[in-house]
Amino acid sequence: MLAPSLKRVRAANRSAMRFGLAAATLYILAVATAVTAEHNTAAAQNTKPRAEASQHTPQYTPDGQLVFPSNYREWVYLSSGLGMTYTGPMGEDDPMFTNVFVTPEAYRAFTVTGKWPDKTVFVVEERGSSRKGSINKGGHYQSEFMGLGVEVKDESRFPEKWAYFAFGPRSESTKARPKDKCWQCHEDHAAVEHSFVQFYPTLKPIAQKFGTYKTAVAESQR
Ligand code: HEC
Repeated sequence: MLAPSLKRVRAANRSAMRFGLAAATLYILAVATAVTAEHNTAAAQNTKPRAEASQHTPQYTPDGQLVFPSNYREWVYLSSGLGMTYTGPMGEDDPMFTNVFVTPEAYRAFTVTGKWPDKTVFVVEERGSSRKGSINKGGHYQSEFMGLGVEVKDESRFPEKWAYFAFGPRSESTKARPKDKCWQCHEDHAAVEHSFVQFYPTLKPIAQKFGTYKTAVAESQR
């Protein structure tokens, strides 16, 4: 802040020599106003949440579609699944990886309450796997992006509180999936509210400590 103001004052002094005193006085007044305005904006920015913070809450298009949460890789990583399936074995040579992330504010709230606050967003990122590449001789590593499942807790927007969205590799926004496609399985089988904390080893002890972990649900195999 200091450096630009000094520069402006020096520039004003130079103009004083070139254009005479009256013009310079007007110029200095204008500079002073600009500096004050800049200062006020900076002060306001310090007290208000920054613009990026809002990207950690669900964003919708005017017609109610969820916008692809493009910064989810800056969220908190929970865990990964490898070839997980809920209908029977898939017998794949190259099973899919699923990487789960949650918004940072929701994560922090969870660590002190064992519950998910309103506006929590989870993503499950689906990636293909590879075996052959570079120096790799065994095991799998993650490869191409295949899709993104998104789960939102937005109590004022959705009567069922939780809503589900499936993005393909190129979709920018999408509408909520019908209840039977995603919501019902999460309702019936997830250990903490609608989240599958039984599969996230660092969250499980936190939920158990706060008594929000539904053990019978988590242990049921069907
Ligand atoms: C048959 C049950 C089932 C259905 C149907 C289902 N899910 Fe899930 N979902 C799971 C399980 C189990 C996990 C945890 C394992 C994992 O990470 O893959 C999970 C994890 C998630 C997560 C990570 C956060 C969490 O809740 O643990 C998101 C986001 C998600 N699913 C979105 C969706 C979307 C979107 C759909 C519908 C297109 C869907 N799910 C349908 C079982 C289901």
